[in-house]
Amino acid sequence: MSMKRILSVATIATMAVALGACSGDGAGGQTSTPPEGGGSAGESKTVGVAMPEQTLERWQADGAAVTQGLEAAGYAVDLQFAGNDIPTQQEQIDQMITKGVDVLILASIDGASLSTQLDAAEASGIPVIAYDRLLTGSPNVDFYVTFDNFAVGQQQGTSLLAGLGVLDAEGEATGEEGPFMVELFAGSPDDNNAKFFFDGAMSVLQPYIDSGVLDVASGQTDFGQVAIQGWDQAKAQSRMDDLLTSTYQQEQIQGILAANDALARGAITALQGGGYGLEDIPVVTGQDAELASAKWIAEGWQYSSIFKDTRKLADTAVDSATVLLEGGEPEPNDTETYDNGMKVVPSYLLESDVVTAENLSALLVDSGYYSQSEVDSGSSD
Ligand code: GAL
Repeated sequence: MSMKRILSVATIATMAVALGACSGDGAGGQTSTPPEGGGSAGESKTVGVAMPEQTLERWQADGAAVTQGLEAAGYAVDLQFAGNDIPTQQEQIDQMITKGVDVLILASIDGASLSTQLDAAEASGIPVIAYDRLLTGSPNVDFYVTFDNFAVGQQQGTSLLAGLGVLDAEGEATGEEGPFMVELFAGSPDDNNAKFFFDGAMSVLQPYIDSGVLDVASGQTDFGQVAIQGWDQAKAQSRMDDLLTSTYQQEQIQGILAANDALARGAITALQGGGYGLEDIPVVTGQDAELASAKWIAEGWQYSSIFKDTRKLADTAVDSATVLLEGGEPEPNDTETYDNGMKVVPSYLLESDVVTAENLSALLVDSGYYSQSEVDSGSSD
């Protein structure tokens, strides 16, 4: 890794704070020019980077990290956040194409909603990288950088079982038979990843549901019944409120599969409102290792999260963009899994880690992802 790249990694956290502070919750963006004396290859090239929203910390961090990496490599960046509004994202990408960006890095809101933009990019000879979420229904996607989404779901399912004591630290069955009352919260149905997470988790959990170790007392086990539109924390909270009223008046709920940290915190907030305390809060999973959840994991409110190091994803996107800008083809490590309906998109999949109270400091603080004071306060320094 060059010194420039090391420096870029070191400044990501600062960038994330700066972006978060100036942009608020809505749509918005920033355009940069390459820094003086920046890389050699890039000089006059610009990369359009479209992110879905910035209410979730992860997208702020992703936007900041990608921008920093590209600028360090000598490219200018047009970074836009769409406030989770599909027409806004379409318009932002249209404008990037009109302005003549050289590569597009796109984290979609709805992976199926950008076909017109992808056609226009193709017509203008602009390569497209799908970032984190697959772009579907179009042949005009050159590369996909993401984490292994099915494996993320498996980690979530395994972590739920470990938290309940059904599996031990090595992932071996303890013989604990339950039954444990659990509920499932999946991600947004328009996000291609959400089904992968759910299927991965259910590949681990279904046998335990079938054998009666886990009891989904609401009976809601289909993706369509448990998916939360827009990964919306408030919607998860209100579904949990409803479940407490409909299903858990007499019985205590003991476990929740939550597909990301926003859903986890929504469910936990409802449980707190329903009288659950630290001593009887269910085992709740998550994803993204957001600061507010890192704090709750340290305190015992949330059991686990999945740490997807956005610095690694950003680095992979930057490297792939650089190869495309130089006229090459990025090297995939998966050419089978991500069929977008029109083609199997060559992909580079990264590995994720389960975070619990035990390894939180090692994974998140020692790696420089967060400072200890950020974890303690649950927000950026
Ligand atoms: C997914 C992403 C997850 C999570 C979620 C909510 O596509 O892979 O890490 O952040 O979106 O935005």
